[in-house]
Formats: sequence, C-alpha cells, structure tokens
Amino acid sequence: MSTALQAPRTVRIGLAGLGNVGAGVFINLQKNAGLLKERTGCILQVTKIAVRDLNKSRGIDIPSHLLTTDWRDLVADPNIDIMVELIGGTTEAFDLVCAALKAKKPVVTGNKALLAERGQELFKLAEENHVPIYFEAAVAGGIPIIQTLQEGFIGNHIRSIHGIINGTCNYILTRMAKVGLSYETALAEAQQLGFAEADPDLDVSGWDAAHKAIILASLSYGFWIKPEQVFVEGIERVNLTDMRFAKMLGYTIKLLSVIRADEKGLVEVRTQPSLVPQSHILANVSGAFNAVLVNGDIVGESLFYGKGAGQDPTSSSVISDLADAAGTLIFNSRHSGFVPHGLYGKSKPVEDTVSHYYVRLTVDDQPGVLARVATLLGNRGIGISSVIQPEDLEGNTTPLIFMLDDAPLKVMREAIQAISALDCVREEPSWLRVETLEE
Ligand SMILES: NC(=O)c1ccc[n+]([C@@H]2O[C@H](COP(=O)([O-])OP(=O)(O)OC[C@H]3O[C@@H](n4cnc5c(N)ncnc54)[C@H](OP(=O)(O)O)[C@@H]3O)[C@@H](O)[C@H]2O)c1
Repeated sequence: MSTALQAPRTVRIGLAGLGNVGAGVFINLQKNAGLLKERTGCILQVTKIAVRDLNKSRGIDIPSHLLTTDWRDLVADPNIDIMVELIGGTTEAFDLVCAALKAKKPVVTGNKALLAERGQELFKLAEENHVPIYFEAAVAGGIPIIQTLQEGFIGNHIRSIHGIINGTCNYILTRMAKVGLSYETALAEAQQLGFAEADPDLDVSGWDAAHKAIILASLSYGFWIKPEQVFVEGIERVNLTDMRFAKMLGYTIKLLSVIRADEKGLVEVRTQPSLVPQSHILANVSGAFNAVLVNGDIVGESLFYGKGAGQDPTSSSVISDLADAAGTLIFNSRHSGFVPHGLYGKSKPVEDTVSHYYVRLTVDDQPGVLARVATLLGNRGIGISSVIQPEDLEGNTTPLIFMLDDAPLKVMREAIQAISALDCVREEPSWLRVETLEE
C-alpha cells in the first residue's frame, strides 16, 4: 500500500456493539490513529455506533450523535463503508451480517458462535454479494491465527492443529493443577476475577472452544464442519483425583481442541479434557492464556501463544481486520476470506477417532481384578502401556489406573461399559483421552 504519494482516504465504520470488545475497538482506533493512518493510508473513522441502551454509563467519551439503538440505521447509511458486528448471539447478529452483506458492506466480526453455527450460509451470501467477512477476533482473541492460516500457511496442507483456546477453562484447570483448588472454587475465582461469565456454561461445557475449533478446521480444510460432527466434552467432571494421578504419570490435564485430517482426508474435530505430557510446551500454557500449535506439511510445527480474550487483545484483532478491509476496499487488494474447496470435504465420524486413553477405576482390593480388566481390554485389541495401583490406601477398595494405547472411541466405549459391569468395579470409571502430541 503506497501512502506517501496519496492523501489518506477516510473509511467509515459502522460499529454494532459497544460492550467489552466494541469499546476496546473505539478506544484503540483513537489511541493508535496516527500509526494506522501511516500504515494503511486510511483514516479509520467510527461514524455510527449501535447499542441496546443509550443511557448506559460506559466510562468513555462518545459523542451522543454517534449512538443509535437500531443497527439497521448503520447498514442503511450510504456513508458507512464497513460494518463491525460485536453484539454477540446468533439471531440478531445473523440478521445484521446478512443485511450488511446484501448492502455490499464488508463485515468484521468476532462472533465465533455465529460462524460455527451459520458460517456456511454467511460465507455463501458473502460470495454471492462479492463482499468479504473478516473474523480474526473470533478465534484466540489477540493471536493472529486466522490470517496465519489464510496467508502465512497458504502453501501448506494442515496436518493437525492442537489448541488451548478457552482462557476460562485453562484458568480453572491451571488453578486446580497448581494450587489444588476444587473445580467449584476455581470457577468461582475465575468469575470473581472477570475471566468467567456470570453464566459460564458456554465456556465450561467446551462449546466455546468447539466453536473456535470448527472455524479453524473449516478454514484449514475448505468445507464447513457441522457442529453435530464435532466431539465436545467440558471440564465439569475433571476432578483433583485425576489431576493428581495425571501428575504422577507425567501429564497435566488441559481442555484441548484437536483438529486433524487422516491419510484419506477425513477430518476430525474434537474438544475435550485431555492428558498432555508435562514435557510438552502446551502443558505449560497457564492461566487465561491461549496457544495454538499448527502442523503444516511444509512448515512443520509452529506455535502461537497469547491472550485469547479481553478488551485490548480482541480489539487488536478487530482493528487488524478493519485495516485489511479498508485496504481491500480502497486499494483493491486481495482478501482470501474463507475459500471452499473439495480437497477434503468429509468429517470423520466421532466414534472412529483414535487416541490413547487414561482410565481410573475404583475396584475391590483383592487378587485377580487387574487380570479381569486386562482381559476385557485385550479382547477388544486395546493395549495397556502402563498400570499403577497406589499402595497404603485405607478401606476395601483401591484405585487402579491404566494408560492405554491407541483405540477408536467406539471400542473404548464398549470396553468401559464391559469394565463397569464387573462386580469388582465399585464406581463409574473415570476416563480421559491422552494426547501424545508426537508428530
Ligand atoms: N469479550 C471477549 O473477550 C471476546 C473475545 C473474542 C470474541 N468475542 C466476541 O465478541 C462479541 C462481543 O463480545 P463482548 O464481550 O464485547 O459483548 P458485550 O460486552 O456483551 O457487548 C455487547 C454489546 O452489543 C450491544 N448490543 C447487544 N444487542 C444489541 C442489539 N440488538 N442492537 C444493538 N446493540 C446491541 C450491547 O449494547 P449495550 O451496551 O447497550 O448493552 C453491548 O454494547 C461476541 O460475539 C463475543 O463472542 C468476545
């Protein structure tokens, strides 16, 4: 973009939503206006803002004539060049994005739930109207992982992506592992510190991370993954007993999103608490931080680490999209967006996904139990890589912990069902995937 020979052009922005992220976009566009003008050759100017409540105290100086309660005013305004959707949710936000695209206005959004659930329809509409959708802020807050996949790694087949992409869950699991807090106490602490929402369900159920995984997978493999084809398990059932045994075995428990294509091009997408080797760099991603490990067939492994949410990191990504959108509008540069293609095109059935497993049983403290469980596993072709049975525990029952070799999920489910039915097994088995993270 040449700026020296041209006077800066003003690009007018309609900002829908002035909450946590929207306010950050407004503040930081002003804070770094000079830098952005030099780098983009544009003046990025917020021209109108849609909110729900005009009288809300926001702690920032906003001229009242900029505000409206109807986002349609922004879409209909012929002076607005780009629409930013930061209202959240999947109903009005969907209507807003559709209306903006039909009005031929490029859209910038950070709404992962919207893209994960309705991305296919929205990108089709974007293509029909020849206007792009930008969504850097939708995955991993301030980490520029979307542009990296779209541009930096354009020449690579993506072999796999492993991500810690929900800061709330990572904060809770880190506090459980490092300080020994219970799940409930760690969640309450995250809420007090503002990491977790008053209603944290979307986070702790694993669905927020799954939405982001769907976006990363769709972008990497050129077709929209349907939410029902994704395996999702939250962190609600992770307990300190499993944390302690994982540590003894050299692992830590993380909410990990795993995306990968097999040799036939079938794509698996799943999010679940998993044992990660303590020696692996992902095990050391602590607190509210995010990390995304990408493995491309040419580039090999690359790791991206940073703040996955919050006003400033997320607005940094929205501003990057605005600069990109302004460049595309004014200088007619290319934007790749989401490019569908048929090189992959199919999701792997969840039941066929394969991994190592950790299983903790509570069994009668008597001879022969280990052999009975080993037989049930062996009959299903599941190899045991190690077993531990802690000593010196009181009572008539004892924990028995197995580390198992690769097994498809459906075979594991059958094995767990058979093991649960043994008369020497006293409690519902606790079992988790183990990600070796080896290339
Ligand atoms: N927070 C993060 O760290 C983060 C990170 C990545 C992505 N995101 C995504 O960014 C989006 C915004 O998140 P946020 O945390 O900024 O949300 P938020 O704090 O709840 O703010 C939402 C804003 O939208 C406005 N709004 C809601 N419905 C509206 C409507 N129908 N018409 C006009 N305005 C409406 C609200 O107006 P009032 O202020 O008047 O109530 C508020 O200003 C979400 O999609 C979220 O998933 C957030």
